[in-house]
Amino acid sequence: MEDSIEVILQDYDRVLPKAGSNRPHHVLSACLGTLFTGLYGLWSLFVVPGFRKVPWSLKVPYLPSSKDQTLNIMKLLEGRTGRLADLGSGDGRVVLAASSAGFQSTGFEINSFLVAYARSKAHWTGVPSGQATFVQKDFWNTNLSTYNNVTAFLAPGVMEVLGEKLLKELPDDARVIACRFPFPNWPQQSSVGSGLDQTFAYDISSVRSHLRKVPNTVS
Ligand SMILES: C[S@@+](CC[C@H](N)C(=O)[O-])C[C@H]1O[C@@H](n2cnc3c(N)ncnc32)[C@H](O)[C@@H]1O
Repeated sequence: MEDSIEVILQDYDRVLPKAGSNRPHHVLSACLGTLFTGLYGLWSLFVVPGFRKVPWSLKVPYLPSSKDQTLNIMKLLEGRTGRLADLGSGDGRVVLAASSAGFQSTGFEINSFLVAYARSKAHWTGVPSGQATFVQKDFWNTNLSTYNNVTAFLAPGVMEVLGEKLLKELPDDARVIACRFPFPNWPQQSSVGSGLDQTFAYDISSVRSHLRKVPNTVS
């Protein structure tokens, strides 16, 4: 005998959760998400080969640039050519954008998983080899003197030390693009965007002549 509609609905009530009763699932998903993000953070900070050697005060976790931030970087590089280094290249989005604008781009990234992912992204998108290169290397231990364009989306606490390194190594005609976190005491050439997407451009020759005039300023 066929079940009446009331019997069928009663069965559904038993099987399906009532409206609003899936709240524990949301809480569980949020907890799992937080747990995995935390584990990923710990993994990337402590387990990634090479990262353990980076002093605690210079450790920077992975956070990808937004689309607007990447566009802002490219606006600030308009009219420029040559070699570009992205310091901490993550999944490679800045390097790939720069290579399609004609730069010979290199991403320095300490996380082997991100390096592998960026390389395969370059392969899928058909970027000519040599135009975009991803190197698994600590950029603090890399001489950057052959690059005339440098991009960095890092953390506020490392910008002063990074500024000192770049001033020592970069050629006079170099331009540095800092995403979200400006260099303290460096005069900006220009900036685009606002809030979290604000991006700053610095010309090394102007920074050097400014710091010569204000010699006691820490770079
Ligand atoms: C905030 S993310 C920026 C990623 C990418 N540049 C972007 O804009 O999407 C910083 C990246 O720097 C990498 N990183 C941090 N310290 C590094 C170091 N000393 N050498 C190389 N990569 C580093 C991290 O693994 C992370 O992927």
